[in-house]
Formats: sequence, structure tokens, C-alpha cells
Amino acid sequence: MTARPVVVVTRRLPSPVEQELSRDFDARLNQEDRPLGPNGLKEALQTADALLCTVTDRLTSDILSIEPLRARMLANFGVGFNHIDIQAAKDRGLSVSNTPDVLTEATADIAMTLLLMVSRRTGEGERHVRSGAWTGWRPTHMMGTQVSGKVLGLIGMGRIARAVAKRAHHGFGMRVIYHDPYPPSPAEAKQLGAEPRESLEHILEEADFVSLHCPATPETRHLMNRERLARMRRTSFLINTARGDVVDETALVEALADGTIAGAGLDVFEKEPQVSPGLLAMENVVLLPHLGSATTETRVAMGMRALENLRLFFSGAPVRDRVV
Ligand code: 8YV
Repeated sequence: MTARPVVVVTRRLPSPVEQELSRDFDARLNQEDRPLGPNGLKEALQTADALLCTVTDRLTSDILSIEPLRARMLANFGVGFNHIDIQAAKDRGLSVSNTPDVLTEATADIAMTLLLMVSRRTGEGERHVRSGAWTGWRPTHMMGTQVSGKVLGLIGMGRIARAVAKRAHHGFGMRVIYHDPYPPSPAEAKQLGAEPRESLEHILEEADFVSLHCPATPETRHLMNRERLARMRRTSFLINTARGDVVDETALVEALADGTIAGAGLDVFEKEPQVSPGLLAMENVVLLPHLGSATTETRVAMGMRALENLRLFFSGAPVRDRVV
């Protein structure tokens, strides 16, 4: 019998996934769930045939340049892979895969959660009740912003944005506009009740809610900078379930503080798990700890998809979710 491939699993995964991994591979699990850090990642690349990695593993070109390199595959647990230097991985002959599709619905739900929370001031309301400050109902207490009939602007119109459009238009009666250099077909957009706009700036000027759904790339870094935040309406809200890097967090704090925009709902941050202190002090901001895909069903599905990619790779078959 040939030895089973060694797979270093960089974080704790839901137990059904760990069980299957251990059955099919010589899986080195991370029982303590401690991030491996640069040295741990280097060691894993030298001692394993593959890494099953997550957003918390920064696989930089420096780390990937380790010698001798044993690993041949990076099976990423997640759809976004901006934490992996893809060119460096390619140069080292590493295959990289991700887990698209399975987290679309869960992430769209979190985008809608943020949109509703920030417009209806529910985080603030919850803090108010828990602190014992609530003195009772009154007609002018904690009035928020109505969602139905408002305009949702989607920056990027991929899988998650389309799932958000569906919820917003068909569930909440919102008008949906979008901008994407690779747009959906007119028929698909029509089904979602979504209208294209020719530029990002048109979205910013027209939308009551701007929701970000583009990947983090060198081109989209700080896409939402001071100038673009200033193009938004003073009554509008920014929602980010994509990646922290897409927003200049310092410029966002300023825009929120001086009333350039009305509020923000954020699931991702530039320097996770650090959050700008300015944001922590603001009531018109909803902050979540990167919960986009955090349902049991989705996290199991993501793990199974990463596992499937590993199986395909080591059986010599084409990897379904191959990035490089
Ligand atoms: C994941 C995400 O939980 O898939 C993504 O891109 O942002 C999250 O849903 C995370 O990436 C885990 O590695």
C-alpha cells in the first residue's frame, strides 16, 4: 500500500470534515486551533504534501520560497485567496484551489444582516436595552432608515452579489443597481431586478446602500478611498462583506465621523483581527467578526469542497476549483 499524502490542516475544522480528512489522508490536524504563523507555515510546506489553509494563513512569497519544498498543493478553505501570493505559488509549481458556490447564500445573508442592522440601528438598540438605559417606548425613539423602496448599489456582480440582489429586490422591495466589468447577461440581471450602471461613480451617487462584492486584488485595494466615499450620499450606508483591503479604513473613519456618509456595516477589516479604534467608538457602525460563511452547514460544505479538491489533485484528476 502506498503512503497516504500528508495534509497539514492549519486550523480546527468542523468535526465531520476532520473525520473524513483523517480517513483519506495522513491528516495533521490543529487540535489547539492556534495559527501556525510564518515558521509553522514554512515547516508545513517542508513536511507535508498539501496544506488545507484559511484566510488566517498569510502565504507570502517569502514563506513560499522555502527550501526544500515538499508541498505541491494549497487547498484553501474559502473563496477569497488574497492571503496567498498566487504568482509565487505558481512559480513554485504549487496548485491552489478554493471553495466557491457553497458559501454564497450564507455570505449574502450576512450582507443583508448588516444592511438591516445599520439602517434600523439594531446594534445600538441592543446595547441600549442591555445597558439598562431604556426608559420605554416613545414615538421619536431610535428612528432608523426605511429599507423598502431604497436603492441598493452593488460593486461587483458575482455569485454573492447576485444572491444579495435576489434577497434585496424580491424580499425587501429594493431597487438594485450594479457595476461590474464582467456583468451578468441581461436576462439574468432582469430576473434579479437589477439594472447596470456604466461606472462605479454612478453607483456611489445613486445608491442609498453601497455593498462591496469584488475580490481583493492590487487593483481593488482602497477602491473605496476618501474621494469615492465623498461621492456617496450623506444619507447612505456602506456594507462590506468582501475584504477589508477594498476600503481605506482610515478614510472610512473620517467619512463616518464628519457625516460624509450615514453609517457602515462591516464584516471584514484591513488588519483583522484589529479594528480601527475610531470604528469601535461609533454608534452608526455595525461590526462583525468576519462571519460571512459562519454557519455549520456552510463551514462543513466548505471543508468537504476543500477535501474534494485534495482528493482530485492526489488522484491525478483535474481539480474542480483550481485557481492555479
Ligand atoms: C471564510 C471568506 O470563512 O471564503 C471567504 O473568502 O471570507 C470566509 O467566508 C474564510 O476565508 C476562511 O478561510
